[in-house]
Amino acid sequence: MRMNGKVAIVTGAALGLGAAMARMLAREGAKVVVTDIKDAEGEGVAQAITEAGGEALYRTHDVADEAAWEAVVAATLDRFGRLDVLVNNAGVGWGGPPEDETLKRWRQLMAINLDGVFLGTKHAIRAMKRNDPPGGAIVNISSIEGLVGDPNLGAYNASKGGVRLYTKSVALYCAKAGLNIRVNSLHPGYIWTPMVESYLAEHGDVAEGRRALDAMHPVGHVGEPDDIAYGVVYLASDEAKFVTGAELVIDGGYTAQ
Ligand SMILES: NC(=O)c1ccc[n+]([C@@H]2O[C@H](COP(=O)([O-])OP(=O)(O)OC[C@H]3O[C@@H](n4cnc5c(N)ncnc54)[C@H](O)[C@@H]3O)[C@@H](O)[C@H]2O)c1
Repeated sequence: MRMNGKVAIVTGAALGLGAAMARMLAREGAKVVVTDIKDAEGEGVAQAITEAGGEALYRTHDVADEAAWEAVVAATLDRFGRLDVLVNNAGVGWGGPPEDETLKRWRQLMAINLDGVFLGTKHAIRAMKRNDPPGGAIVNISSIEGLVGDPNLGAYNASKGGVRLYTKSVALYCAKAGLNIRVNSLHPGYIWTPMVESYLAEHGDVAEGRRALDAMHPVGHVGEPDDIAYGVVYLASDEAKFVTGAELVIDGGYTAQ
């Protein structure tokens, strides 16, 4: 019960990594606010947590919408009385040659992957300052694609690189202001989730794509959602009380090459 007594919001928690994070945080004792735009799946995650003996709440939440952030944080404080952990997980990924990218698609991706992290961080800090004593932990889900480039993932690389450095800026701000709020980024390698599967389906054969992705990781395979959820629990827990402005890479050796 490493998260006992803590209240966490996980965005994009209806599927994939976010769902695994929400389940593991709850298993470790956190009360979890599951948010997403996919209501049926999100409700299902919250219900499964409750049925397993945990406490969870689902809220519809587009992370690019500031009013929706205000509503989610208000609902969290109303139901659970505090906010200790925010996991900015919601994200989208697509790619293509830069000369074919449209400004509309670029802005759409930035709105979710980068504006969403900015808005969540802003409203989480406001809530965490009201804790008695003040404090909290923010975990921003970047990517290996926020550390190294990919020829066909320009917008995604830019958004995830932005998340990495925004994290460090806010970590320094919180530390120097004495807010007791830690802010870290987490950089997964390829993890088998609906995002990756649908990306492969759009670009060819899924099984062949999976073999190619497996081979890109020195350990010989892609990761699974719990590999990342364990990292989130660590960064969100008091075990990481001296960790801020850091980047935790969980990538099967991908970026060690
Ligand atoms: N799967 C990977 O290999 C991988 C690797 C590195 C980083 N990531 C990052 O991890 C995070 C989760 O990825 P995933 O693979 O689980 O993706 P996924 O597509 O399986 O799940 C993402 C979730 O985010 C939700 N979402 C999309 N737009 C939203 C919005 N505007 N507001 C709220 N929710 C929204 C989706 O409905 C979905 O439930 C993303 O930020 C992604 O960039 C994933």
